[in-house]
Amino acid sequence: MHTLLTLLYSCALASAAATPPAELYSSLIPQKVLATFKALPNPVKYPQWTSTSGTWQYFSPDTWTSGFFPVTGYEVNTRRTLCSATPANGLGIADWLALGRTASNGLIPLENGNGQGHDQGFLSFPFVEELLVNPDNATAKTAINAFAKILANRFNPVVGATRSWDSSDPTNFQVIIDNMMNLELLFHAETLTGNSTLSKIAIAHADTTMKNHIRADGSTWHVVEYNANTGAVTRKRTAQGYSDSSTWSRGQAWGIYGFANMYRLTGNEDYIVTARRLAKYFLDNIPADGIVPWDFNAPLIPAPRPADSSASTIAANALLLLAKHESVPASAQMYTDAAINLLSNITRLAWKPSWQSLLSNGTVNKPANNQLTGTVYGDYYYIKAGNELISRNLAKCT
Ligand SMILES: *[C@@H]1O[C@H](CO)[C@@H](O)[C@H](O)[C@H]1NC(C)=O
Ligand SMILES: *[C@@H]1O[C@H](CO)[C@@H](O)[C@H](O)[C@H]1NC(C)=O
Ligand SMILES: *[C@@H]1O[C@H](CO)[C@@H](O)[C@H](O)[C@H]1NC(C)=O
Ligand SMILES: *[C@@H]1O[C@H](CO)[C@@H](O)[C@H](O)[C@H]1NC(C)=O
Repeated sequence: MHTLLTLLYSCALASAAATPPAELYSSLIPQKVLATFKALPNPVKYPQWTSTSGTWQYFSPDTWTSGFFPVTGYEVNTRRTLCSATPANGLGIADWLALGRTASNGLIPLENGNGQGHDQGFLSFPFVEELLVNPDNATAKTAINAFAKILANRFNPVVGATRSWDSSDPTNFQVIIDNMMNLELLFHAETLTGNSTLSKIAIAHADTTMKNHIRADGSTWHVVEYNANTGAVTRKRTAQGYSDSSTWSRGQAWGIYGFANMYRLTGNEDYIVTARRLAKYFLDNIPADGIVPWDFNAPLIPAPRPADSSASTIAANALLLLAKHESVPASAQMYTDAAINLLSNITRLAWKPSWQSLLSNGTVNKPANNQLTGTVYGDYYYIKAGNELISRNLAKCT
């Protein structure tokens, strides 16, 4: 009886399988990405967000988001590998690998030190992709090891975490949920060097985050502050969210991704259980219109409450990662459908042919009044989710 119900349930889910939006494979994607590569200033600066009318704003390489545009070149290259180039998909208009490689070179000086705190993982993204293409590339190996060393040096064994942000008082040790995204770098460097201290640091950080950053209902605090000398939690608060007790949606998405990724990297069940709890909170709190607000607890009035398109695209990738590691088919299907629904709904709101970015409605930092923008990370994760669906045979290339 139980088996029959399970079977009926999976059939119902399978028949309701969501369809990815056509825009995810539009030729506008390669066209816009190429136009932005051509517009990169010399000496290089990287796009981070757009104006509220869709024009990219460029930032010096020592910025946490600088890896995202170079790695977007690698991501379009991956799409070209998955889909043969046709006039309809527009993927044949450039040598994406060459563009990604050239743009990555501007990140290399950051190996000697940078102001990006824990965000060494994001800076390393293009070099991680480079090693998938050319595992012998010494430049990429050196970059990964250098960025990992900078992150590892931020580890405090008393706290059991890497310091996310520096603060003027060195005993004030601040960790943000986003930091979960930077841990993968330590595993890559361990593979390259054989230094097993690196994964131990990542695991300690994830365990400490699991203990202190997550509320009983599966929501997350953005910032947890510790006493660097005793390891005691001194404060739980927000920086980019609505309030100290609210849940900033991009942070929640980073958390789902980070814990699902730690499960992939270690096989520790606690991490997938945590990723599921965070995913449940995220999915249960999406309003009926399917648009993820910048903070799940931000007030509805005045309407419209700003969305954050990047929270949708990051969460879509996080859910696809979770789906890949779910052994129960109905659960995997549920996460996959939820990912596709997020992509469909955000496309309906935020796909902007006239903008330089792919998507509008990013909220970079609402407390700083930086909203209604495109974001380089939101666009990167949009393309990446599209590639993931193709590689799992859940979408067609055009
Ligand atoms: C190695 O990687 C770097 C940066 O990622 C790139 O600029 C360079 O072209 C690559 N070299 C080769 C030989 O693939
Ligand atoms: C391994 O990495 C840790 C963290 O960066 C470092 O302190 C240690 O010296 C490294 N060990 C070796 C043998 O290089
Ligand atoms: C938007 O999201 C809702 C609920 O999250 C879902 O039921 C609906 O199918 C989505 N819309 C589209 C066009 O996918
Ligand atoms: C989306 O962005 C447009 C302007 O680009 C704005 O008018 C609209 O209110 C935004 N919607 C949400 C839900 O953020």
